[in-house]
Amino acid sequence: MKELDRLAPPGTPERATLDGLDLTRLPRHVAIIMDGNGRWARQRGLPRVEGHRAGIRAVREAAETAARLELEVLTLYAFSTENWKRPGWEVRTLMGLLREYLQRELDVLVSNGICLRPIGRLEALEPDIQQGLAKAVEATHKGTGLTLQIALNYSGRTELMDAFRSAARQAAGGELVADQIDEDWISGQLATAGVPDPDLLIRTSGELRISNFLLWQIAYTELHFTPVLWPDFRASDLIRAVADYAHRERRFGGVLSGGHGPDVGED
Ligand code: IPE
Ligand code: IPE
Ligand code: MG
Repeated sequence: MKELDRLAPPGTPERATLDGLDLTRLPRHVAIIMDGNGRWARQRGLPRVEGHRAGIRAVREAAETAARLELEVLTLYAFSTENWKRPGWEVRTLMGLLREYLQRELDVLVSNGICLRPIGRLEALEPDIQQGLAKAVEATHKGTGLTLQIALNYSGRTELMDAFRSAARQAAGGELVADQIDEDWISGQLATAGVPDPDLLIRTSGELRISNFLLWQIAYTELHFTPVLWPDFRASDLIRAVADYAHRERRFGGVLSGGHGPDVGED
């Protein structure tokens, strides 16, 4: 059971946002497209690198807040398969920041009970980054709180493509017959296997698109777009987004829950 005093102690700024809310309606899984680092830097006359650096602080704050809110999963889109198109220096900067993050934040992750789970085609990352990720996964695997999925060299289409290829191989080997393929089977082939689909997807920076993120998993996810640029995204922004989500009525193609009974003349 979630308790308000634990999630948002009295006197904290987030208390007012969460007060009176049915805490059982908070999302289990929040996914975030962290966008706007470059524009944040440009607005300040700084190089893009500084925007990415400032974005790391927002990552730390989002992870800590999600852990405090006792969410089950937070998925952060950190580097897409399309981001390799960026200039070499920018890709190197992003990878350098990832290296730093893995070294510096490990203690914070462990002390918050966070379990790290990188998703994406990790084999294409530099060997030392793969090692850093493996070390962080090992160090955090006993975390019983939040699962922090970090999407690296990830895209929804490559994830699906990999699943189709694996299905074709299994079928050719006689281990899979067509009728075994249902929604659960497909979900189980993806990088996110075993975690519930996102309840809420947040995109910062005012862009209104999905940019190849979690295409299969977001079929019925609630969407939240905010103009806030990622480096400015604070705990209070995340808390407002989850509080807004708690008021939404999800239907999954059905009728309003707790709504009116059948119309007269229908059964
Ligand atoms: C998000 O910020 C970070 C990554 C995609 C890695 P951007 O770098 O996309 O920032 P904008 O969109 O150019 O402002
Ligand atoms: C989406 O942001 C990818 C990540 C946040 C990692 P982009 O900035 O790459 O997306 P587009 O190019 O604006 O769609
Ligand atoms: Mg962008």
